[in-house]
Amino acid sequence: MGVSNALNINDLRMLAQKRLPRMVFDYIDGGADDEHTLRNNTQRFRDRELLWNVLVNVSEIDLSTRVMGLDLPLPFILAPTAAQRLFHPHLGELATARAANRHGVAYGVSTLATQTLEDIAEAHPGPKIFQLYVWKNRALLEGILERAKAAGYTGLVLTVDLPVMGNRERDPRNGFSVPVQLNTKTIPQALTRPGYLIDLMRGGPAVPANFNTADNKDALDRENGRFDPSISWEYLTWLRDQWDGPLGIKGLSRPDDARRALDAGVDTIWISNHGGRQLDTCPATIDTLGPIADAINGQADIILDGGIRRGTDIIKALALGANAVAVGRAYLYGLAAGGEAGVSRAIEILSAETRRGMELMGRRSLKELSAEDVVG
Ligand code: FNR
Ligand code: LAC
Repeated sequence: MGVSNALNINDLRMLAQKRLPRMVFDYIDGGADDEHTLRNNTQRFRDRELLWNVLVNVSEIDLSTRVMGLDLPLPFILAPTAAQRLFHPHLGELATARAANRHGVAYGVSTLATQTLEDIAEAHPGPKIFQLYVWKNRALLEGILERAKAAGYTGLVLTVDLPVMGNRERDPRNGFSVPVQLNTKTIPQALTRPGYLIDLMRGGPAVPANFNTADNKDALDRENGRFDPSISWEYLTWLRDQWDGPLGIKGLSRPDDARRALDAGVDTIWISNHGGRQLDTCPATIDTLGPIADAINGQADIILDGGIRRGTDIIKALALGANAVAVGRAYLYGLAAGGEAGVSRAIEILSAETRRGMELMGRRSLKELSAEDVVG
């Protein structure tokens, strides 16, 4: 089966598993501790059920939305994810960017991208936002906001659920780290996937490209992926002063934090638990949406991610109050399975499933959806 035959996101996941060494697949696929939240993010979507309306003329469906100042034809965006050249050694983020561009989908580009933010912007002139992690060594971040603005990133998102890395036990079990070290655990895994290995060797090490200049290479090595655990609300206020475009905060679970973010001048609340990769046993994101939406009462946009694998998951989040959702693994499986064509396939699948779900529900646009469409 190739990516064009994949019928759903799970098919793409199985193709990714065939293509990648176990350690790389597990880095994408896995979560923290016992992976309770990882599983629950998806399960809690499935626990909710949809009602439909009959005898509605559904010959025209409008899936468009507006979020973070962006007019989007589809209600999902590609969540920021690190190190995509590990998943697709040849092009990494550029393959994602080209597919997003082809479909007019918004792309959130990670601080830890393995292509420069400028090259990604060139591949995706359309809607895009930049995601920020804050290194202890602030010099590494110098000029990054100006560069993002100049390259056409209109929105900025600060990720706040990763003061330290979560405990992902699949990684040490597989001997895995970023960048990949060759050792007695990783070499045998790599050898089982020669196609991937050859691509990886051709492509060179997958390192954060935005900071990979001769000057700061050593500094980056010293940081070794560690971020500043001391950042606090003052940093968000400072960031608000630095960035005059739409600003989002990604990784909230509580209404009181959402209110506080509003007070700090944030335009978008991005509900996320990092796809179950950080604090395990926290609630599924869909369970925190209602209380957060009530608390912010329309004063900011809401994006929600975590566990979305089907169009009906997207519809449930929109019906319960999100302006848009984001997907992480859904497109990464596609990227790993088939580069640009694989990401494109993931976008097509989610878009077709969302459209069909709306048709079957007798709902013609996002504004027609409401919490009453969802049971449970
Ligand atoms: C992520 N995520 C993430 N988030 C972020 O703000 N910056 C980042 O660099 C990354 N990196 C990253 C790598 C990988 C491999 C994954 C799977 C996830 C989290 C991501 O943006 C998003 O919150 C989750 O992926 C959403 O959950 P699903 O859709 O993967 O279930
Ligand atoms: C991750 C980080 C780096 O989830 O965002 O792997």
